[in-house]
Amino acid sequence: MARLVTVSRAAKLAGVSRGNLQKYIRDGAIQSFEGMVRLEDVAQHFPEVNAKPNDIFEALELIMDNAAIKARNRTSSLPPDMETLVARVSMLSDELVESKLEISIFYNIIDKLKSRLKQFSAEHPDSVAAMRDLQSWLLDEIETIADRKYEQYRMVATDTILRVVAAQVRLEPSGHEFLVEGSDSILEAGLSSGLALNYGCSNGNCGKCMAQIVSGEAKKIRHHDYVLTEKEKLQGYILTCSNTAVTDLVLKAEEAGNENDIPPQSITAWVRKVTPLNDSIATLNIKTPRTQRLRFLAGQTVNLDIAGVGSKTLHVASCPCDDMNLQFHFNRTDSDSFSRYIANEIKPNDTINIEGPTGHFILHEDEASPIVYIAFNTGFAPIKSLIEHALTLDITEHIQLYWLVPDRNSLYMHNNCRSWADAFELFDYYPVCYDENDPITSCLEELRNNNSEMLSVHHFYVAGSANEITQTKNALLKQGIADESIFVEPV
Ligand code: FES
Repeated sequence: MARLVTVSRAAKLAGVSRGNLQKYIRDGAIQSFEGMVRLEDVAQHFPEVNAKPNDIFEALELIMDNAAIKARNRTSSLPPDMETLVARVSMLSDELVESKLEISIFYNIIDKLKSRLKQFSAEHPDSVAAMRDLQSWLLDEIETIADRKYEQYRMVATDTILRVVAAQVRLEPSGHEFLVEGSDSILEAGLSSGLALNYGCSNGNCGKCMAQIVSGEAKKIRHHDYVLTEKEKLQGYILTCSNTAVTDLVLKAEEAGNENDIPPQSITAWVRKVTPLNDSIATLNIKTPRTQRLRFLAGQTVNLDIAGVGSKTLHVASCPCDDMNLQFHFNRTDSDSFSRYIANEIKPNDTINIEGPTGHFILHEDEASPIVYIAFNTGFAPIKSLIEHALTLDITEHIQLYWLVPDRNSLYMHNNCRSWADAFELFDYYPVCYDENDPITSCLEELRNNNSEMLSVHHFYVAGSANEITQTKNALLKQGIADESIFVEPV
């Protein structure tokens, strides 16, 4: 029987991005059945990345290593416990029994067919030659199919092992999917996959992460003070911050669809470090308390306030998938008291208040259109957050980043961008040193050189000064790009 798996699991097994696999589905090369694909079909299109026995163990080791790294960083995360492993192995044993039963039924039928053919030959001597041909065709066919399927079933074997160490969660109604590795909570795994799941305290106190199990099995991994009613328990409700997935799960869970679904927050966080990147730009890294993390969407801003010093609104430059560790970019040469204090006086562990988030410059993730990001100078901060989020979600077909600066020294995270381009097949990076009198023309020339006539299918995200974004938007509109495909943000 064909094995159906979710698109994200199939992409992981084939070693390609989800966006890449979705392109095959859109083109009709791979058939999709309500969000699932046949593993055998995927193996046919990606035979060169089909897993060999050693790959299976490497994949397994990688997952265990990841779990160990997370365990070092987050005390709550450990490799799957014995009870979870036993439940997963027992589920796979049931599947094995079913498969063995099916195989024995098929073999039985083939044996019976062979004897019927023999009997038919005996009763009809004039058909002996035809019956012999039929029998030898049947045997050849079984052998050929077995040879062909052997390659395809290597991927099924990898999937089986992955299912022991990582369970798959599918959310309703969005259809979003993610893997829960080790003994991570469902919430932790969903957030680090870039999803905007509903939550409050992450600690079992508020009940905001409540979700309903549609199918599969979850298991409580930590005590929670929030009390679920008996009726809620009977209806399959759990707290995703306090449960892990034992088997593959389908969950009805609320997610933030846009910026209006994210509540305003006020958090006291700590400074981790300030790192100068060139003569004028530095990063500020701050950490929130474990039980009060910042819920935000990539591309949004927050107001940072230091008692007795002042405040400043900055874009969060990091991914919402890491809601405890936040990064900001600031200009050390700005003359305001806040920037001067951050550049010269602030120390690790000093407290800093965060209010927010605000802003509408967010990722429109409902479509998998190719994306062009255009960052002018420090417009890179919100663009970096959007890129990290898009890469984590792994839904986009192709990403291009154009970083426009007056000189190469201003590319203050050039190596970071190059490492994205090296690591992700779907990512292209174009640093552009512009003519200060006409930055937009340099940008458009580079865009046209790299895209011929296909620009109209892209989504554009542009961040820079008010003048830069207005001029870029007007230039893109003149190129025939639809207004609703251009998103701009002043910095
Ligand atoms: S997030 Fe508060 S109980 Fe789960």
